[in-house]
Amino acid sequence: MHRFYELVATDDLMRPMYPEEDLGPAEDRLRMFLVQYWGGPTTYSDQRGHPRLRMRHAPFPIGPAARDRWLQHMRTAVKEARLAPLHEATLWDYLERAAHAMLNIPQDPA
Ligand code: HEM
Repeated sequence: MHRFYELVATDDLMRPMYPEEDLGPAEDRLRMFLVQYWGGPTTYSDQRGHPRLRMRHAPFPIGPAARDRWLQHMRTAVKEARLAPLHEATLWDYLERAAHAMLNIPQDPA
């Protein structure tokens, strides 16, 4: 997640979408969410409540370009983590589906 947010920090399309100056808290939230999703401690929901990810993303217009940028940086970060092939494939399958599900505008703004 740290690597992913390093890439977000330099991204012209994604960086402006994040309301906070410091990306550290956003990194923590995504990490806690994924830990919980994959069966670890429920710290995410203890602090943030039910994930409701589509609702939480509603304030940010996510079209195909933002989704693809998200996936591109996540792909790099996951590759660099050098997981066992089955773990990588399983994680990636989830992330790709989740990213497609987060689309909330049909087309990129002109
Ligand atoms: C498809 C492109 C996506 C974009 C452009 C995007 C963008 C954002 C932005 C701007 C935020 C607010 C930052 C913050 O927490 O302060 C956020 C929050 C978050 N995102 Fe995404 N996101 C995307 C996909 C995903 C996916 C696929 C997941 C999960 C697998 C995810 C998980 C989260 C979580 C857990 C939060 C924090 C929610 C909270 O507790 O407030 N995002 N995202």
